[in-house]
Amino acid sequence: MTVVTQGSELRTVLAGHGRPRVLVPTMGALHAGHLALVRRARELAGSAGTVVVSIFVNPIQFDRAADLAAYPRTLEADLAACREAGVAVVFAPEAGAMYGADRSVTVTESLLSRGLCGAARPGHFDGVCTVVLKLFLLSGCEAAVFGEKDFQQLAVIRRMVRDLDVPVAIIGHPTVREPDGLALSSRNVRLSAAQRADAPRLRQALLAARETFKSGVRTAAEVLASARQHLEESALPRIDYLTLVDAESLQAVTQIEGPAVLATAVFYGEVRLIDQVRLEP
Ligand code: PAJ
Repeated sequence: MTVVTQGSELRTVLAGHGRPRVLVPTMGALHAGHLALVRRARELAGSAGTVVVSIFVNPIQFDRAADLAAYPRTLEADLAACREAGVAVVFAPEAGAMYGADRSVTVTESLLSRGLCGAARPGHFDGVCTVVLKLFLLSGCEAAVFGEKDFQQLAVIRRMVRDLDVPVAIIGHPTVREPDGLALSSRNVRLSAAQRADAPRLRQALLAARETFKSGVRTAAEVLASARQHLEESALPRIDYLTLVDAESLQAVTQIEGPAVLATAVFYGEVRLIDQVRLEP
């Protein structure tokens, strides 16, 4: 496995590896969720192909300096996990190697990125789109794997690729969870013991709302109320948003007529967790 820190070097190193090239973009602190994406990439690449993992805590997608500073960094362990998982090349640049001080071009998605996490985190998806497009260009990958856990991110990237004719196949992978239902996240390690014990509530609230939906309720307000009630049974989480959106346009719906997504973000102290569930009429 080769570890590369400069974009130009990445191109040279990859020239010596087989196709297809499958990229898994990450910010490191790798857990079993990330590694499931890597395994998927390994399958997609086949015996001739190459799996590239990028590890880069992208400063321009953080809206809060404290969140960026607190983001876990575990490069040595990440590299060991990548080696074990059959990754050929890891791209782990410093921020200075990705962005010039006078950089002035940003990729903006202006519809799907506006609500949900985009509303609460101004500039976040511009930062994601910009870095992901750069990673696609630097790696020259044919395909890239993203987690459905960040379903808005996945939708925004699919839209960017569609609208800009980016020749990269976007593969979504289901959310990997702890046995108690909590979605794996690099942020989970920052939860206190009490917060961690309470956090499966997020998933339970969404599943409770899905049961309401399955019982025949199609009014968004009623479905949302059942999730909200479950979340508010504890004093620990503070709801950032709880929204029901159309699965395609990510615009809020009042009545569930087609595939929809019930999505939530909550704060446990300073730690923000997200989860969602799909509702198929
Ligand atoms: P990061 O949060 O490190 O996540 C990297 C990838 O792992 C994303 O595609 C994310 O959806 C996926 N992932 C995280 N937790 C998961 C879980 N429990 N199950 C399945 N997949 C999971 O998302 C980012 O980094 C960044 O925004 C990035 C795309 C790398 C751009 O900087």
